Amino acid sequence: MSQEMSDSSENLPDWYREGYDHVWLPYTQMQTAAKALPVKETRGQTLTLADGRELVDGIASWWTACHGYNDPRMQKKIVQQLSQMSHVMFGGLVHEPALRLAKRLADLLPGDLDHVFFSESGSVAVEIALKMAVQYWTNQGIKGHNRFVSFRAGYHGDTTATMAVGDTDDGMHQAFGDYLEDQYLVDLPVTTEQAAALDQLLAEKKNEIAAVLIEPLIQGAGGMKFHGLDVLQRVARICSAHDVLLIADEIFTGFGRTGTMFACEQADIVPDIICLGKALSGGMAPMAATVAGKKVYDAFLSEDADKAFMHGPTYMANPLACAAANASLDLFAEEPRLEQVRRIEQHLGQSFSHFRHYPNVVDVRVKGAVAVIEMTALPDRQKMQECFTREGVWLRPFGNVIYLTPSFTIAPDELAKLTQAIDTMLTESMTGSAE
Ligand SMILES: Cc1ncc(COP(=O)(O)O)c(C=O)c1O
Repeated sequence: MSQEMSDSSENLPDWYREGYDHVWLPYTQMQTAAKALPVKETRGQTLTLADGRELVDGIASWWTACHGYNDPRMQKKIVQQLSQMSHVMFGGLVHEPALRLAKRLADLLPGDLDHVFFSESGSVAVEIALKMAVQYWTNQGIKGHNRFVSFRAGYHGDTTATMAVGDTDDGMHQAFGDYLEDQYLVDLPVTTEQAAALDQLLAEKKNEIAAVLIEPLIQGAGGMKFHGLDVLQRVARICSAHDVLLIADEIFTGFGRTGTMFACEQADIVPDIICLGKALSGGMAPMAATVAGKKVYDAFLSEDADKAFMHGPTYMANPLACAAANASLDLFAEEPRLEQVRRIEQHLGQSFSHFRHYPNVVDVRVKGAVAVIEMTALPDRQKMQECFTREGVWLRPFGNVIYLTPSFTIAPDELAKLTQAIDTMLTESMTGSAE
């Protein structure tokens, strides 16, 4: 929170003063962290704070709001759904918004990824993928396939099983080290040596491996690291050579973020299972999905009831969330979203190259609507946030990266405001005036 706001608590709304001490915020040291900003309204790319100040959002609420906030066409469809049916259980009952959405996803996704299992968060979608992969083997009477291979700098969620397949060495989930099941954490096969190492691991351990799990093309929360199509193709080839399932976690990369609807399309690969979330519902409702190909789905078909997939979140396929996702897909069909992503990539490709000249900047990279400045270490977090708020933008750097993942509808002047704010912050941190 900016200094002026924290100093003048009389300006803060009652709900903030009375409620703040009763919420526990994510990834936040509640004793020392600067107070979170009170938002009262969102619109387009703008967050309006309780005191009326406006911030241009550079990260689209953790990459969800791909169409910007409050698109009236999405709102209308969600309200229509609300007046008809806000929720109904999905066990033994189905409804139009879910079935329409499942069919649309099956049509959009590459290959035979045709069988959609809904859930309410990305972590759960990945948990479901892991369970599907394990049960795929046990349903065929093949025992022992209960471990996973995942990649350094990967992130797949905060629940127990997903933490175990994330980069457990990176510090974020260090407190849980002894609690988490050991999995195989390896380097992405960027070099031929790394490819040979992955190949050897699968050759030696394929009888205990249920699946390999990858974030295609961009590893998001683990450091916004990019890899090439060839790396993704190599992973797919090695999995296929050893008959090991491949799970693509496209919770971050899906729905246009990397320049195509799904990152896997660029490498022309079809995973056995794909996980979707975040922009699936255009930032309007919690929704995720785990989509399986024919080989996986067929392994669950049997006269034996015990071979059914044993999972079922209470709010799965929530009709409001399905309506949001259907409305979001309508916008992808009606609006030039991928062209907008290309323009963002061009704009940021040019404006970000300038950041290479700052000391402590080790890399600058842009892909699709993702732009990253990697530093040896970030400037003081609180000072950075104060500067960004003062400059009228909302950004949330983490680890050693400052990044932009804006809505695809962002205008060039809003992008310019975001890059200008980063420039100001980096200049201030160098000259000490941000200290
Ligand atoms: C690639 C990836 N997988 C899984 C998740 C977890 O999603 P959620 O936060 O919705 O549980 C995230 C969240 O950032 C993600 O980026």
